[in-house]
Amino acid sequence: MEVKLREIQKTATEEILNVKDKKELNDVRVKFMGKQGLLTSILRGMKDLAEEERKTVGALANVVRGEIENNINLKMKMFEAEELERTLNSEKIDISENAVGIEKGALHPVSRVINKLVDICVAMGYEILQGPEVETDYYNFEALNIPKNHPARDMQDSFYISDNILMRTHTSPMQARTMEVRKPPFKIIVPGRVYRNDNDSTHSPVFHQMEGLVVDENISMADLKIQLNIMMQRLFGENIKTRFRPAFFPFTEPSIEVDVSCPNCGGTGCRICKGTGYLEMLGAGIVNPKVLEMSGIDSKKYSGFAFGTGIERPAMVKNSITDMKSLFKNDIRFLKQMK
Ligand code: DAH
Repeated sequence: MEVKLREIQKTATEEILNVKDKKELNDVRVKFMGKQGLLTSILRGMKDLAEEERKTVGALANVVRGEIENNINLKMKMFEAEELERTLNSEKIDISENAVGIEKGALHPVSRVINKLVDICVAMGYEILQGPEVETDYYNFEALNIPKNHPARDMQDSFYISDNILMRTHTSPMQARTMEVRKPPFKIIVPGRVYRNDNDSTHSPVFHQMEGLVVDENISMADLKIQLNIMMQRLFGENIKTRFRPAFFPFTEPSIEVDVSCPNCGGTGCRICKGTGYLEMLGAGIVNPKVLEMSGIDSKKYSGFAFGTGIERPAMVKNSITDMKSLFKNDIRFLKQMK
């Protein structure tokens, strides 16, 4: 019996070695270990053996069975690994996904002009301040020498919150607010949003300005002209010419309005400058001594100049825009062209 067992082990090992697939392997399993299997029938026949012999043969039979099972399992694992490898090689899953395109944004034309003006002024030593958009009647008008019932208020049709509180109509209130709390000398600019009850192709109820104020000893119109010339040339280009016209603002005396030669046509006249060759850019002047005094600055010792420029006008000129509204509609197709 022992010999038979050894023989079974040998043939089983050989056959397991030679099977070509899972099915053949299974056939081998049935052949040796199945109910009618060769090994099974030997094990069954053991009950007829003498006790002593049964022990040794039993032990050997267990070893043989373990060995065969082990080999079958190893072979099965090998087939499974091969099968997996084959499926992995044949099934290609495309796990890539269409990427969402990254659109490059651009700064709004208004932001670009503000940034540019701020850069120009900071390079000339100005400090940037910001002020409240909801303003008192006092700072928006009174402290700028525009008393109640003054006709200059008419030019700035306003949005009132209550009798004495309104949306600021210009950035000039920051002149008074600054002079009240600072000792000269100082050089400040105030970029920001302002509000007026205006609404047509060149006016919007909300728009932007940048105020400038310099207070020191011996400040004169010459200083103002130099600063504005530099500012306008850096904003529009070295070839720009400026033109200073006498004007009136209650808070500056004397006052001027500043035009620049049209950057679009160079001064010969075009659609942008409506044929005049010049574009009105800003108001400015020497700070009215009355305004200095109202804010507690000694007008005998100090003088100052101030200017206030709109932002939308330069943004329109620089981008050949004729309708101011297009700056506020935020139509993405329009803004895309502004890059
Ligand atoms: N605040 C004026 C306006 O909105 C513009 C202005 C004119 C500002 C003269 C100034 C200035 O600082 O000196 O129309």
